[in-house]
Formats: sequence, C-alpha cells, structure tokens
Amino acid sequence: MCYAIPGKVVGIKEGIVTVDYFGEKKKARNEFYELNNGDYVYVQGGFIIQKISEREALPVLDSWKKLFFKLKEIDFRLAGGAGNKYRRANALRQKYHGNSCCIHGIIEFSNYCRSNCFYCGIRKDNSALARYRMEPAEIIKTASYAVNELGFKALVLQSGEDTWYDEKSLSHIVTEIRKKAPCLIILSLGEREEALYRRLYDDGARGALLRFETGRPDIYEKLRPGRILKDRLELIKKLKDKGYLVMTGFLIGLPGQSGGDILNDIKLTSSLDSDMFSFGPLIPHPATPLAGTAAPSVETVLEAIADARLDNPRAQILVNTSFETLDAAAIRNGLMAGANSLMINVTPEKYRKFYDIYPHRAGIDLAIKARIGHILSILHSIGRAPTDLGL
Ligand code: 5AD
Ligand code: SF4
Repeated sequence: MCYAIPGKVVGIKEGIVTVDYFGEKKKARNEFYELNNGDYVYVQGGFIIQKISEREALPVLDSWKKLFFKLKEIDFRLAGGAGNKYRRANALRQKYHGNSCCIHGIIEFSNYCRSNCFYCGIRKDNSALARYRMEPAEIIKTASYAVNELGFKALVLQSGEDTWYDEKSLSHIVTEIRKKAPCLIILSLGEREEALYRRLYDDGARGALLRFETGRPDIYEKLRPGRILKDRLELIKKLKDKGYLVMTGFLIGLPGQSGGDILNDIKLTSSLDSDMFSFGPLIPHPATPLAGTAAPSVETVLEAIADARLDNPRAQILVNTSFETLDAAAIRNGLMAGANSLMINVTPEKYRKFYDIYPHRAGIDLAIKARIGHILSILHSIGRAPTDLGL
C-alpha cells in the first residue's frame, strides 16, 4: 500500500530539486540526502523525505501509471468551475493542487495533558479518563510499521501537553523515526518550549500542528484557563520562522463565536501563512464544561472549508476527524468543497479509545487496514490520488 508516488530527480540547484512524475515537473527542498540526477525520491510537504533505489521505485511507478491518468480524468470531469461556492472552491483546489490528496498518519502517543481546555475530553481535570503513555520504543515501532509496512509518508506525533516527554526523549524519538521510518515528521505537542521545537527541527521534524483555536482573545482566555492567545500566536510565528511547515486553525462552534468570527479565523489562519489549514467542529464532550453546547451544523463546516479554499488557493486544507464524526459523508463532501488532505489514525488499537478529546470519534473502531481501504475507495471514486507531489 502506498501513499505517495516516487519521482525522478531531473535537476538540482542550491538545495531545490526538480522532480519528474510521469512528465509533470515539481520542485522540492532537499535537506536530508546526497542526490544526483536520476535518483528516485519521495516528496511530502515540499521536502524530499526519502530516497529509494531504482529497483524499489520502478514497480511502484508501474502500479501507479495507469491509475494516475485515470484518476486525473475522473477529477477533471467532476471538478467543473462554475456554480455555487463549493464548486468554485473545488475548481480552485484542482487548479492549484491537481488531484493529489495528502494523507497523514497520526500517532496519539499520550493522553496526559497539563492543560484544562474547556472543550477537551483529555483535559487535566477529567479524572474519569484512564491515561496512557506510549514508551519511546513503542512510538518508534508504531511509526516504523506505519511507514515501512503501511506506506505512510507523513506522520503526526500527537499528545496532550505532556512534559513527561522531555527534550531528550522527544529528540531520540524524532531522530530514530527519521532513521528507521523516513517520513515527514509533524509535531503536535501543544504549547511546549520554543527551544524544544528548535531542537526537534534540527533532529529532522519539519511540520508543527498547533491550532490557535479561536482568534477571539476573550473566548480563548475563557476556554483555556491560564493561557493567552498572544503567546499561542507568537509560538506559531516562531515555528514558521524556524522553517517548520505550520498547520494551524480553529474550532467551529465555540460558545460566543459568530459567523463573522469564523471568517476572521480563516483570515487569521491565512495571515499566519499556514501551510495547512486544520480546523473542525466542536464535538461537545460530556465530561467537560462545554457538555451542554450544541455542535455546529454540517453546512457551517463545509462553508468554512470552501471559504478557506477561496481565500487560500495554495494551502493544504484538511478534512478533520471531528468533521467525520459530525457527518458520515464528511470526507467526500469536504474534498468536493475545496479540501485536499486527510488524516488516518495509526495509533495502536488498544490506546485509541482513550484519546478521548471528543466522544464517538470517527474511524477508531476500524482496524487500520480496513480504514485505509475505506478511504482509498472514497478517494478513487472522486478521482483523487493519495499522494503529495510537492510544491
Ligand atoms: N471537539 C472537537 N475538537 C476538539 N479539540 C479538542 N477538544 C475538541 C472537541 N471537543 C481539538 C482542539 C485541539 C485538537 C488537538 O483537538 O482544537 O487543538
Ligand atoms: Fe490538552 Fe490540547 Fe486538550 Fe487543551 S486541547 S486539554 S492542550 S490536549
């Protein structure tokens, strides 16, 4: 199973490599390998994340060849330009991203959190929740399985804000994953120290997922006790300055939030120069102070996806798992409204139900291979290729 198409290096200039995919040329940054023209590579998020031999590349290319053009044709047919907002957003997605849909695996390695966000089921004060931590060796093993057996090329390492994992252990985890399971490593560790993020970049992490949650300081400060929005935004900017691909966004449906706030949050995500938009609906959790809040409508979320795409032709836009939880057809609908990215949970099954940020999370009951099969069949039906061809 494979979530990216290998490309052939056809040009190298000052760290920027031109990669050929069946005649289409894309640029990528090379920070990890010695490369020559003729080498085969995988690209994710604009970075060359793996070099492979011709012997490994050719059979994969061969299996892709027919499908690659067939999927493009389906997407081309479905994504006509004129029409309502969703159709216009989808046409823009196609114009700037072709039919590629990047798929990230996510490993939720600890549900301990020192924070107490009002919306979140793994908040510190939820004493009813059983807590788990994966040992570094188990995280590395899970990543190796996801990359080397299942074919993932990008992995999100996510936890609550859990300082049990210090700089030394996280550095070890990132270094070993880069070595044993070459992929785009995306950190989702919450508001940890800037120095920690710097160190992990130097160890090979290249993505950071950190939502600002809401651009309204009054709502933010009410729902995240002891934290201020300014600190969060500053950290996001520093991560961007360091070179991280930044994935940020907000929650839809927070108490006190208006339709205008959602549009402002889209603008704020753009102004942070976010490489990937990650936003989704609030799914109220019964063991949190927001238990009585109503989830937003499917339409509100779809509109936000379309608005985000119309505002940001070049960004990756994720169909979030909380949206899948709200709407069984979220993947298809979201991808047809301008989104071009998905996440698949690769956390070992025994832990999944304890990462209970919101109830009834979509997909956690399915065995990983069944989940992958389900998603691939949706992607193929709308002509999307599960890959990321770079800039
Ligand atoms: N519903 C939807 N998303 C939630 N998150 C936390 N709690 C909920 C909830 N009840 C999101 C936050 C956080 C991410 C890890 O999960 O936006 O950044
Ligand atoms: Fe912790 Fe993140 Fe949940 Fe807040 S949203 S309680 S920081 S895991």
